[in-house]
Amino acid sequence: MFKSEVYIRRREELHKKIKSGIALFIGNIEASMNYPDNTYHFRQDSDFLYYFGLDMPGFTGYMDFDSGKDKIFGNDVDMDDIIWMGPQPTIKELALKCGISDTAPVNKLEDAVRDALSKKRKIHFLPPYRGETKMTLGKLLKENPCQMKTNASVDLIKAVISMRSIKEKVEIDEIEKAVDIAYEMHVTAMKMCKQGVREQDIFGMIEGIALAKGGGTSFPIILSTNGQTLHNHSHGNILSKGKMMVTDAGAETNLHYASDITRTTPVGGRFNEKQKNIYEIVLKANTEAIKATKPGMSNRDLHFMACTILTTELKALGLMKGDVDEAVAAGAHALFMPHGLGHMMGLDVHDMEALGENFIGYNEEVKRSEQFGTAFLRFALPYKPGHVFTVEPGCYFIPELIDKWKAEGKFKEFINYTKLDGYMSIGGIRIEDNVLITEKGHKLLGKPIPKTIKEVESVCS
Ligand code: GLY
Ligand code: MN
Ligand code: MN
Repeated sequence: MFKSEVYIRRREELHKKIKSGIALFIGNIEASMNYPDNTYHFRQDSDFLYYFGLDMPGFTGYMDFDSGKDKIFGNDVDMDDIIWMGPQPTIKELALKCGISDTAPVNKLEDAVRDALSKKRKIHFLPPYRGETKMTLGKLLKENPCQMKTNASVDLIKAVISMRSIKEKVEIDEIEKAVDIAYEMHVTAMKMCKQGVREQDIFGMIEGIALAKGGGTSFPIILSTNGQTLHNHSHGNILSKGKMMVTDAGAETNLHYASDITRTTPVGGRFNEKQKNIYEIVLKANTEAIKATKPGMSNRDLHFMACTILTTELKALGLMKGDVDEAVAAGAHALFMPHGLGHMMGLDVHDMEALGENFIGYNEEVKRSEQFGTAFLRFALPYKPGHVFTVEPGCYFIPELIDKWKAEGKFKEFINYTKLDGYMSIGGIRIEDNVLITEKGHKLLGKPIPKTIKEVESVCS
């Protein structure tokens, strides 16, 4: 974890933002896989990590906004635990690491919450996303566990988002480390991208790199020659000539900061003409969008800029037609790019998404579009220095979607359906990088990962 000052400072800031009541930060517990003691890899709750840093199961962070005091609830291990887990630090010792001297066993939490309830104090908590946390909160607050998400504190959500959105130097350093791990993962995947190799071989190899160099992957790896399926988590294909492999994979550092990088590689390492044509379009959207990233520019503006590049270039290639601005305004480009340009990144790869996407990326003035494609944009607001974003344009040939729109005659004034047949083997191409918004512009995070045609072909050879 970071030095205790980091967590002390963060909690002090939160105390200034929330004036009264108490807050409960329920840390995660172990999650069973197929029987109670066989558990998934433990992942601490990101908000708990942000304010308390302790990376073990079974803790609750407690903040009292009236008295200004913080407390950790958790149990010391007993002899049985020591036999199975080895000696462990005491709760007192652990709490001091995040600058808290007041601790109590978990069974005292119920008393503390009962006391707050009896005094009708506001109890702030964030929307839970795990069943166990919903049950814990429901039991403590004597409310229906299924209501815990809707009853979460909007004031606390907004305060936490305002803090976690702006990355500190120590966090940016961590994210850069995570990108550097992704560098190793992606270069390895490119080198292995050869005819006859199984997707699973590459998947396993790069997952291993994430585990060897950090805290594992920041989300389940997407690696497939069926890249037209945006989040394809099956790795059952054998690579064959003429296909392209989409690898969307990132790592977590040991402190759980994420990277999220996508590269698309032709099987065998050499692009054919059609692959080159589409790849250059996506690359242009990626590099031009990154170039334009600066404070004040909104992620929605940047999204439409990338969509306009995509549409202009697809028109030049003959796959689209008509007026480019009209096509983009109508949403015709979404046939090829049905997702948003990017999202925030930090302790979560889709940062803070558990707190509610609309709280993060939208507000009273900026509402989410209902148009197909644009509706998936996770963040529409202006960038601020300290934001970390992904920039991830793509171009996909999704047979089911193309067939549907073609049959409906949808956007036939903007799409040359007959020309698409020759491009179906491409599947999908996505190129994703991670960018920090600085005072004057932006910084591409981490060691640059090969992405021009020349660079990719050179790595593959
Ligand atoms: N890794 C999923 C995404 O790019 O958002
Ligand atoms: Mn990604
Ligand atoms: Mn992403």
